[in-house]
Amino acid sequence: MGFHTYDVARADELEDSSRYEYCSAEELLGAAALSAQDRVLDVGSGTGFYTDVLAGVADRVYAVDLQPAMAAYYRDKGVPAEVATVAADAGTLPLRDDAVDVAVSTMTYHELPPAAMPELARVVRPGGRLVVVDWTSAGTGGEGPPLEERFDARTAAGALDEAGFTMRRVESRRETFLVSATR
Ligand SMILES: C[S@@+](CC[C@H](N)C(=O)[O-])C[C@H]1O[C@@H](n2cnc3c(N)ncnc32)[C@H](O)[C@@H]1O
Repeated sequence: MGFHTYDVARADELEDSSRYEYCSAEELLGAAALSAQDRVLDVGSGTGFYTDVLAGVADRVYAVDLQPAMAAYYRDKGVPAEVATVAADAGTLPLRDDAVDVAVSTMTYHELPPAAMPELARVVRPGGRLVVVDWTSAGTGGEGPPLEERFDARTAAGALDEAGFTMRRVESRRETFLVSATR
């Protein structure tokens, strides 16, 4: 955790629809079990590629990213009315306790500081959901960050369990892992 932060100069690559090969919109929405009433946190939202998927279903989405330049990119692209962009570190989220029904993080877990895990547990309401999808260290490394910067599903699940989440799905795929949990 806490490996290098994604280079804003490569932001265009995050908008490539071929990324759905690794996590589709349908898969993300299914894992998050989103409803129209849900308040959602997207941690490490980048250019809003997956935030837009969530915004199409949820009531409110907080798009949190460490780099203001990512939020600027997203604004230039066009931020949906139900999305609020927030420049903040996932380790110190500017949200109240139990603020959201669902937290989602795509392809970012390996960049997050350890302090992000208890912060996620603090802002997701009891009974709320968490979905984390990221590149797995059990993959080939052909795409995505170097293998030595990645984690595997069990390690991520262990850190989230320690923070107060109960695991529902812990899956390792070809190049990515998916963990879903309940607070
Ligand atoms: C690889 S990009 C993924 C972006 C987006 N989730 C997606 O899948 O398109 C990782 C993003 O996480 C952000 N990030 C890294 N560390 C962070 C932190 N500590 N707090 C919030 N965002 C962070 C980076 O600025 C970057 O925009």
